Amino acid sequence: MKALVTGAKGQLGSDLVPLLEAAGFEVEPLSSSELDISDSAAVLEAVKKAKPGIIINPAAYTKVDLAEKEKDRAYAVNANGAENLARAAKESGCPIVHVSTDFVFDGRSPVPCAEDFEANPLSVYGASKLAGEKLVAAAVAEHVIVRTSWLYGVEGHNFVKTILRLASEREVLRIVYDQTGTPTWSADLATAIAGICKAIEAGKKPWGMYHYSNEGVASWYDFAVAICIDAASIGMPLKCRRIEPILTAEYPLPAMRPAYSVLNKAKIKKTFDIEIPHWRSSLSKMLKELKGR
Ligand SMILES: NC(=O)c1ccc[n+]([C@@H]2O[C@H](COP(=O)([O-])OP(=O)(O)OC[C@H]3O[C@@H](n4cnc5c(N)ncnc54)[C@H](OP(=O)(O)O)[C@@H]3O)[C@@H](O)[C@H]2O)c1
Repeated sequence: MKALVTGAKGQLGSDLVPLLEAAGFEVEPLSSSELDISDSAAVLEAVKKAKPGIIINPAAYTKVDLAEKEKDRAYAVNANGAENLARAAKESGCPIVHVSTDFVFDGRSPVPCAEDFEANPLSVYGASKLAGEKLVAAAVAEHVIVRTSWLYGVEGHNFVKTILRLASEREVLRIVYDQTGTPTWSADLATAIAGICKAIEAGKKPWGMYHYSNEGVASWYDFAVAICIDAASIGMPLKCRRIEPILTAEYPLPAMRPAYSVLNKAKIKKTFDIEIPHWRSSLSKMLKELKGR
């Protein structure tokens, strides 16, 4: 089966392409310069030309803070761009796998968020992603939407790389401890998505919403401490001697984040019979891969 992948040079996209190939798909990887998903005519043309058996959409406007200022751009990509792809999927008779975010939640749930929990985004980014979910679901019945959280990978910009850089420059880091979620290695998510695509190829019809993150729970502070411990253990050069936990209020950012956005993954585990690695073991693996590059 042919798989069309958008945003193919992004963090998740660049992990997805080789994993889909390894899973036996013929992959049409389209980077942002090859296909702007906010251009509906270009999307239709690209899908007509590629004739995919499945479309996978990791492309997104992911600048969470800048989105507060660039609302139109965030919606053009995350809402209308997602809809353009879903409409093209409908027209060409193929399903779509779309990726969304834990930032659709307001963080007030006392327990891990299941797929049917009420969404109430706190930021423009979260609202634009929620709009995209709704538009995808309305445009094509044959859709799978996977919400994920705190993504990091070997490619792209992310918290792990930021902490490694800061820890190599400074003796003391101050990191927020009152936001709780789950770090997720993009390679693990890509493996899960490739598995979903295989299941669809085999005739399964798993249409609907799923949550995927690594196992476990952490604050950004916990995550930063783990990054430094693991990086030091494999000989990455660090100047940092101390990490201080601080409150979100001490590090104000333009976009509000959910205080608690742990995802309940029971549905994806049961439907696709998958085991999900713990964030701690995946972080170690990712750091070794990063060091080996
Ligand atoms: N990163 C996270 O922590 C996180 C957490 C939860 C959910 N997610 C979701 O997970 C998915 C993958 O995120 P990621 O971390 O891999 O993001 P990423 O590294 O920022 O990759 C997104 C890709 O989309 C491309 N893109 C942006 N605008 C586009 C457009 N108009 N047309 C086509 N491509 C466009 C970007 O290209 P340029 O670089 O050229 O702009 C980039 O290659 C997204 O749906 C995101 O919302 C991410």
